[in-house]
Amino acid sequence: MFNPSTVAFTSRRRALQRAAAVAAAGAASVCGWAASAGLTIRLSHVVAEDTPKGLAAQRFRALVEERSGGRIRVQVYPSARLYGDHDEMQALQLGAVEMLAPSLSKFGRIGFAEFELFDLPFLFPDAASVRRITQGELGRRMLARLSRQHLVGLGFMDNGFKHMSANRPLLEPAHFVGLRMRVQASGVIAAQMRALGARPVTLSFSETRQALATGVVDGTENPISNFWTQRMHEVQTDLSLTQHAYLGYAFVANQRFWQGMPAGDRHLIEQALREAAQYGNQIADAQNDSALQALQQSGFTRVHVPDPAQVARLRAAVAPVHDGLARRVGQQWLSDVRQALAT
Ligand code: SIN
Repeated sequence: MFNPSTVAFTSRRRALQRAAAVAAAGAASVCGWAASAGLTIRLSHVVAEDTPKGLAAQRFRALVEERSGGRIRVQVYPSARLYGDHDEMQALQLGAVEMLAPSLSKFGRIGFAEFELFDLPFLFPDAASVRRITQGELGRRMLARLSRQHLVGLGFMDNGFKHMSANRPLLEPAHFVGLRMRVQASGVIAAQMRALGARPVTLSFSETRQALATGVVDGTENPISNFWTQRMHEVQTDLSLTQHAYLGYAFVANQRFWQGMPAGDRHLIEQALREAAQYGNQIADAQNDSALQALQQSGFTRVHVPDPAQVARLRAAVAPVHDGLARRVGQQWLSDVRQALAT
């Protein structure tokens, strides 16, 4: 039976309990302020440091610390060292951290199923088309809605397009039948795997490699920079470059922390984040390309490219997933996205 580390779990639970106690007492200090020592922003994320998100987080820290003359400090906690998929949203809402950058797929389970639009298979032909949503009116509307859960949506960032891995090529629907595929907690991704004949298994990112290694799941999907930095190539013999769907992030802050800050600091942080996200977007393709090269050189994993007929069969199999999301979030969201993509 696969279990996360008991020690890590216990310390996270204690940290959350502490944060809950402080939040219940209404103490402002939970928000990272230490009156005499300036401000510390704890930014937690689940991927490795040498990924687009990990590198953007470091750039954010450097910009904030330099521009504030060290008065505002940013502590970045990568690789789910502080909080993982199970508890990071709760940690943010309780003020145990000030900022996160979860994948867009992880907002559905906290009540924002419209974020799962980004998970729809074969909706976006390229990153430029995703930007029409994330940098446009629709993206701003999505971020603004996060305030309903006491979160402040600060901006979007790309990782890239996802591919499928397993211990066999996954080039058409028949290849998926019967496989247990690790998925993020997204209804769209689960429906996509079911539509392909696989069984979706929701697991946090930090548990995925071990679950693949021990056979708890047979395969997964991710951009190559995540696949490579988690060393998934050592436990998956085949990577199929299906490029079937997008994976990106939203930077979010604890609302009480954000509102308690002087306007000048908020502006400084917003500007630094905008530049860090631009930097992340600029390096994302190169990071994924160099991860693919490294993976091919490693000799562990065979890389396959579906031909156009196979892509057409994959696309046809997952098409009903779009209607399923429309039923959950309302047809208007889908129509708005399609209209933004068409203009
Ligand atoms: C991430 O890139 O933040 C994690 C993606 C995943 O959970 O698959």
